[in-house]
Amino acid sequence: MAVWVWLAALLCGTQAAVLPPPWADVRKNPCASHPRGWLMLFWPNDGKCYTIYKKGHPCPETQELSPARWGGRTVAECKCPPGTAQLPHSTTCHKLFERGPCRLGEYFAPVEESFNKRGERQGMCVRPQQCADETLLYWPADGRCYYRLSQGPCYTGSILDLGDDGLANCTCASDGPHYWAGDGGCYAHYSRGPCEKGQLFLPGAKCGCESHLPHYHNDTGACYELDTIGPCPKGHVFSISQVSPYGSKAECKCKSFHARAVDGACYRLYTRGPCAHDEMIARGGRCIKLPCARGRLYVPERRRCYRPGAAEPCPVGEVVAFDFEARPALDGLSHNGVCACGSGVCTRREVEACSSRRGSASYGGACHTLHTQGPCPEYSWLVKDSYGSTKCQCRPGRLPPDCREDTRLNSKS
Ligand SMILES: *[C@@H]1O[C@H](CO)[C@@H](O)[C@H](O)[C@H]1NC(C)=O
Ligand SMILES: *[C@@H]1O[C@H](CO)[C@@H](O)[C@H](O)[C@H]1NC(C)=O
Repeated sequence: MAVWVWLAALLCGTQAAVLPPPWADVRKNPCASHPRGWLMLFWPNDGKCYTIYKKGHPCPETQELSPARWGGRTVAECKCPPGTAQLPHSTTCHKLFERGPCRLGEYFAPVEESFNKRGERQGMCVRPQQCADETLLYWPADGRCYYRLSQGPCYTGSILDLGDDGLANCTCASDGPHYWAGDGGCYAHYSRGPCEKGQLFLPGAKCGCESHLPHYHNDTGACYELDTIGPCPKGHVFSISQVSPYGSKAECKCKSFHARAVDGACYRLYTRGPCAHDEMIARGGRCIKLPCARGRLYVPERRRCYRPGAAEPCPVGEVVAFDFEARPALDGLSHNGVCACGSGVCTRREVEACSSRRGSASYGGACHTLHTQGPCPEYSWLVKDSYGSTKCQCRPGRLPPDCREDTRLNSKS
C-alpha cells in the first residue's frame, strides 16, 4: 500500500513531502546506488538489479518482480500481478474471473486468504452461482446476476451474453440484433442506447418511441428507459407499478423510502428535504418537528429515538446504526436509525459492503442480489419494501399460492 501511495505522490510531483520507499535505502537495497536505482530490486541469484513491477525475467513469464519485507529488509519476490493469480504449485498467472485454466463452465476465482498473506496470489476454479432463472447471467467479478442482453456490468457499446465457455461475456456481434451501425456498438433493446432523449433503441436496431409501449410517457409524448428518472422530478423513478393484462404503463413514482413533498419532488424519509431546519420529512411527505434529541436516531418501526449502538429495539446481535444507505451529499443528513450487525453473527463491514453495492441486500445474514430468487421460495424474488426492509415477494405475473410472500418485518441489515 505504502508503495503505491509513494509512487502516486511522485507522479503528482509532490515527492518532497513523502519519505522514499524502504528499498531506496542502500543498506536495505544494494540497487539504490544505481541511477534510477530506487526503481530497482536486487536479485540475489545472479547478483543483478531489475526494474520493479516488470513482468518476466528474472521472474517466470507471467509474474512480476515485487518488493517484499523479509526480517526488516526489502527483498525481491516474483508475484502474479494484480487481477491475476496462480494455481498452487504453479507459477503461471491467469486472469481472475475468467475461465483461465478451468474446465468448461468454471471460472478462476481468488482464494481470499492467500491475498492477505505476504507472497502468492492464489486462485481456484469454481462454478458460477445459480441466478434465479435463465434470463439472468452470473457475473463473477461482482457476484451479481444481470439480465442477459442488457448492458449490465459491461462498457457502453457492449452487452452481456453467454460466451462459448459457458460464462457471461461482454460482447458485441456486428451481425446481431443489438448492433447499431452508427457507432459500431451494441445496445440493449428498450434502453436509450445511442438514441436521442425521449427515444429508445428498439428491436430492429432502430431508435423510436411507440405509444403502446410501457415506456411511453403521455404528458411528454416520449419514451424513457424503465427504472431511471426518465421524465420525472427529483427523487422519482419511472417504473411499472401495476402489471395489467391490458398493457402496463410506467409512471413517475417516488423512489423507495422517499415521500413526495408539497413542492412535487420526492425526498428520502427522515431527512430535512424542503422542511425547516428543525424539521424532517415523514411518511406522506409532511414536515414534522425533529422527534429526537441531538445525536439520537429515529427508528420508525418503534416511533422512538435511540442512541446509535443501542441494542434495545433490534434483533439479537444487532444494534441501532446510522442509515448507511442515505447519501448525505444527495439526501442531506438522515435521522433514520436502522438495525445493523454489532459484534454478533455478522460483521458490520460485511453489511456495509453488501448494502453499498447497488442492487444487493442482506437477508438472513448473507448478501444477496435483489430481484433474483436468492433465498426465496420458487416464483418469488427478493425485494426491498418501502420501509427499506428486505423480503421475499411474488415475482410479477405470479400470485399466491403459486408463490409465497414473506411479509415478516426484517431488520434492515
Ligand atoms: C467474448 O466476447 C468477445 C467480444 O465479442 C469475443 O471476442 C470472445 O470470443 C468472447 N469469449 C467467449 C469465451 O465467448
Ligand atoms: C394523454 O395526453 C393527451 C394530450 O396530451 C390527453 O388528451 C389525454 O387525456 C392523455 N391521456 C391520458 C391517459 O392521460
